Amino acid sequence: MYPGEVQKETLDWKAVQGQHITAVRKNILVLGSGGREHALAWKLAQSEGAHVFIAPGNAGTAEVGVNVNIKPSDFKAIKDFCLKQEINLVVVGPEQPLVDGIVDFFKGDAELKGVKIIGPDKQGAQLEGSKAYAKDFMEKYGVPTAKCFKVNKDNLDEGYKFLESVEAPYVLKADGLAAGKGVLIINDLKEAKDELCQMLDGKFGAASATVVIEEFLKGIEVSVFVLTDGEHYVLLPEAKDYKRIGDGDQGLNTGGMGAVSPVPFCTPEFLNRVEERIVVPTLNGLKAEGIDYKGFIFLGLMNNGGNPYVIEYNVRMGDPETEAVMTRIEGDLADLLMACADGRLDEVHYAKSEKTAVTVMMVSGGYPEAYKKGMIMSGLDNLKDVVAFHAGTAFDDDKHIVTAGGRVIAVTAHGDSIEEARDIAYREMEKIHFEGGNYRHDIGLDLMRMQ
Ligand code: AMP
Ligand code: GLY
Repeated sequence: MYPGEVQKETLDWKAVQGQHITAVRKNILVLGSGGREHALAWKLAQSEGAHVFIAPGNAGTAEVGVNVNIKPSDFKAIKDFCLKQEINLVVVGPEQPLVDGIVDFFKGDAELKGVKIIGPDKQGAQLEGSKAYAKDFMEKYGVPTAKCFKVNKDNLDEGYKFLESVEAPYVLKADGLAAGKGVLIINDLKEAKDELCQMLDGKFGAASATVVIEEFLKGIEVSVFVLTDGEHYVLLPEAKDYKRIGDGDQGLNTGGMGAVSPVPFCTPEFLNRVEERIVVPTLNGLKAEGIDYKGFIFLGLMNNGGNPYVIEYNVRMGDPETEAVMTRIEGDLADLLMACADGRLDEVHYAKSEKTAVTVMMVSGGYPEAYKKGMIMSGLDNLKDVVAFHAGTAFDDDKHIVTAGGRVIAVTAHGDSIEEARDIAYREMEKIHFEGGNYRHDIGLDLMRMQ
């Protein structure tokens, strides 16, 4: 099986050990299996001479590269694969391997010296891995963020006092990674105190042994993406995410139901403020802490009357934002990432498309609560004028594409306005079917009213 061929099977790489698949200039391994990784792999595969492998990937990534049955947590297998296939560049999609130290693992291994890897080391990944660490970092380096108080079982009474001192709603955050579920926003003070106790008692396991209580920030959210080599940086296209399951931002929180890029309120003036007040002090802070950061920084921002505040740092790209953002990057992403890994980001040309991208996510019935997998999907071959990024799909034994996750497929369209891109995305979305499949109908509507 040769990379670059359209291939409908996962490569059982153990079965091909000893065989040499290929050796080219740009052998790239993307770690992860969602829509973000499909979008990264899709963009990387457009780079001349690139052969993209995705571990473990999904039914969509198999169309742009070769899926490899290795888990992103299996560093040893990743190393063996990189050596055997002469991988030049590893792009880490999700946060967990970064928080678990995959970059330190690569840097500390003499045999992996020649393999570039995009992502921060374990200490840098604490910006996402520990909300308490991130808050301390922001306070230390003067990055605007919500006032907060850190609580554990030893200072619970002070935590109660802090809750009493701020206005509702109350924001409680599990310190550690909690699969995107560790943030609670509560209107009632008594309920907030009860929830605080439950969190400290292990509601999110060890992740909530420490809880960060935050002042509630008003405004509108935006995701700003930075690629840095530690010395230089580029601002990638920003995006707005739609987190709730239902139209009009109703219902439960999800991983994200859609995205729009660019975001009309991200004017040059606003983005200048983001750079001056947030990006520059963040990068200076990383340097001052001795953190060698070569990778993405995802700034989850609140725009409060034109002033940006950091709600959270993530040390990876966003999902579904990446499915919109990658379609607006012009030029060669592989070269950009190689330059990033080499500390040469200032040398590469980077431009963004003027077009507007709208991404709509189709999810399984029941998501974000319990849902069924294995539903046969239809209509994917009839899509026009859009890119369909697979988020949770797989092949069944008969080689049908079936659902394999809560978020299933993201459709991205371009237009000269949000309205135009929305119309195309929704027109094409109607062609995709699987039992229980549903999506929000209002992606971008709020921003259209601002245009
Ligand atoms: P996080 O995981 O920190 O991004 O929080 C999840 C979501 O909770 C964010 O995307 C916001 O919508 C909301 N949120 C978190 N912190 C705050 C805050 N201090 N004020 C207002 N909303 C917040
Ligand atoms: N879309 C939000 C995230 O990736 O965390």
